[in-house]
Amino acid sequence: MSLTFHTNSAEETIKLGEKIGSMLTKGDIIAMQGTLAAGKTTITKGIARALGIKEEITSPTFCLISEYEGKLPLYHMDVYRLEGGDDFINLGVEDLIYGNGVSLIEWSEKVMDELPKKTIILKIEPIEGTNERNISLENWPHGEIK
Ligand SMILES: Nc1ncnc2c1ncn2[C@@H]1O[C@H](COP(=O)(O)OP(=O)(O)O)[C@@H](O)[C@H]1O
Ligand SMILES: [Mg+2]
Repeated sequence: MSLTFHTNSAEETIKLGEKIGSMLTKGDIIAMQGTLAAGKTTITKGIARALGIKEEITSPTFCLISEYEGKLPLYHMDVYRLEGGDDFINLGVEDLIYGNGVSLIEWSEKVMDELPKKTIILKIEPIEGTNERNISLENWPHGEIK
């Protein structure tokens, strides 16, 4: 199913992330799309909170993959610096995306060809000059989000 949301602040986006995170199950993969400062890392903070992760979530731009221990392991990836799909596979991500945790991928536009069909797509679209964001979930398998 596809769902759409609208947020007006980073805090609201974190809250939406918490709702999304509370419904995730093992093996879920979320491909995040959206430009720089859209809110990909911000929504990840909410998802992490719902997974019971106490550690602070930081942007994995330089380390590419951060792993956090929670109710489910969270693999937070940022593939901005990769050339494309081959680099992604060479990082050894298959063990993670086909593993027992939840995978969240920032700048996933670059590696969509390597992701399985069941991948959930989360798009964040900023409304220029405001703190508003249109956020959509596509291929969402877990029902309504209230
Ligand atoms: N509605 C909103 N949702 C998410 N972030 C917002 C919102 N309004 C303002 N912001 C700000 O936009 C920035 C988003 O940064 P970040 O989450 O790191 O983006 P990305 O990971 O997509 O590059 C943060 O500084 C955040 O406070
Ligand atoms: Mg980010």
